[in-house]
Amino acid sequence: MPESTLTMSKEWKQLDAHSRKMSLPENHLKYLVNQSGRLETFSRKGAGLFFDFSRQRLDGAALQMLLKLSETRSLLPRFGRMMKGDHVNVTENRAVLHTACRSFSDKPVLDDGKDVMPEIRRVRNEIRQFADDVHSGKISGANGKQFTDVVVIGIGGSYLGAEFVATALQNNADKGIRLHFLANVDIDNFGAITARIEPSTTLWIVISKTYTTAETTANTLQAVEYITRHKLSPKNHMVTVTSQGSPGDDPKNPVLRTFHMFDYIGGRYSVTSAVGGAPLSLYLGYDRFEEFLKGAEEMDIHAATAPAQENLPLLAALISLWNINFLEYPAQGLIPYSSPLSKLAPHVQQLSMESNGKSVTVKGEPVGVSCGSIIFGEPGTNAQHSFFQLAHQGRPFPIDFIGVLKPFHGQYNTLSKGVTNHQELWANLMAQAQALAAGKDDAEPAKCFSGNRPSSTIVMDDLSPRNIGRLLSFYEAKTVFEAFIWGINPFDQYGVELGKVMAGDIRKAMAEKNKNPDYRFDNRDEIQTFYLEMLFK
Ligand code: F6P
Repeated sequence: MPESTLTMSKEWKQLDAHSRKMSLPENHLKYLVNQSGRLETFSRKGAGLFFDFSRQRLDGAALQMLLKLSETRSLLPRFGRMMKGDHVNVTENRAVLHTACRSFSDKPVLDDGKDVMPEIRRVRNEIRQFADDVHSGKISGANGKQFTDVVVIGIGGSYLGAEFVATALQNNADKGIRLHFLANVDIDNFGAITARIEPSTTLWIVISKTYTTAETTANTLQAVEYITRHKLSPKNHMVTVTSQGSPGDDPKNPVLRTFHMFDYIGGRYSVTSAVGGAPLSLYLGYDRFEEFLKGAEEMDIHAATAPAQENLPLLAALISLWNINFLEYPAQGLIPYSSPLSKLAPHVQQLSMESNGKSVTVKGEPVGVSCGSIIFGEPGTNAQHSFFQLAHQGRPFPIDFIGVLKPFHGQYNTLSKGVTNHQELWANLMAQAQALAAGKDDAEPAKCFSGNRPSSTIVMDDLSPRNIGRLLSFYEAKTVFEAFIWGINPFDQYGVELGKVMAGDIRKAMAEKNKNPDYRFDNRDEIQTFYLEMLFK
């Protein structure tokens, strides 16, 4: 089926007509959630996660129509082709093999006829050895003291995934290493980190696939200057994670170690490659990183092989499409009831919005419907005391609630109002999802809750590395399945280029002014000139 004919398809038209039916008062969620067997019909278990979509504005017919659409859009065969090494990133003519990074199978994975698994295994082994050597003290700073701090320099996909996983697994960080992230070019980000570290026991990891990203280049120069000013050398205090042959892989600029990432690993899908491997193995130990990889692998296998009606990320993608295109919700909240998952929303924000914030199909034709969603979130219950007023009585948006059955610190069980903190947390999670769905009438209009606000609940047993891997891969596969329905390419990001080019032009003018104080910002528009003059005053 040509991609541009998506909205002309029989399945799409049926869904469109059905969505109008689902918007009738008799299909309000307050009625749907009370139907007997609702939870059983609209929930699934798979790869260690429980996915409850009983509070989505769906009925059995809508689900069947969505599943039919998934078949006509060949979601599972396309996912299989991605994992096999086909060049599904068509605009950049690249394979997309983040799934190979966490594969422990002995089967080859071919990119243009070459098995990528040996180089993936090589890098994993190099990282394991390096992390072990740092932990044992075999590799140390110049003066022989063990490393105590690791500063990760990198931005976007070379930062957000690692920060999510490190934060989620912070309670397992028993290697005596503190981890810091230097992403923003804002010098206050750099200054805040240097105020907390000791130069001689700090290791800097520069992560950049291209090694040309302006923010990362600027921060790396700051770090090199900082290292040398303290009479130390990047040869002992800096590691790079980058593409083979990039400027960060240049023997003329010697560093302690370079770990390779490959063309077929996209930034926002890269945390299971050396991008996450190097910092996370130092922070948590390699074995935990490998457990995390195994969780991701388990969800990949589920996504690739479970039938559509049992497939968690595929169902989540279909529900997301239903909410975006048929019920016309512009945003999606991600609310984990678990503080260590506080960086899930920033990670999925990039994963989803950079992947699916597109308007044309892989064939360059307009998609004809909105793609992507505005993703945002905060942990509950904090979110309740922040933006849930709008969630309940303002503009509605679907929410993914994420619950963790066993907290890491379950030993603290002082009771307040008869319950532990963890039970209080769960009482809130359950109450919010129900209040949003059911709503409440009141004689006073200001106290009315219209309800009919959809949500899903995802439950995991605990915050083990394996479960974090499963959750990560769940959102990756969901993102990819959504894109496959729309017929867009979720693996390029041309939308970030224009601003970068314009910044380059402004940078040039600033550099001129730095060289020559008499330089005038004449040949630009009034607004730009105003800000430039203000900055240089
Ligand atoms: O923001 C655009 C982007 O290209 C992301 O996709 C990427 O993850 C990030 O910049 C960093 O790129 P690099 O790893 O090449 O420094």
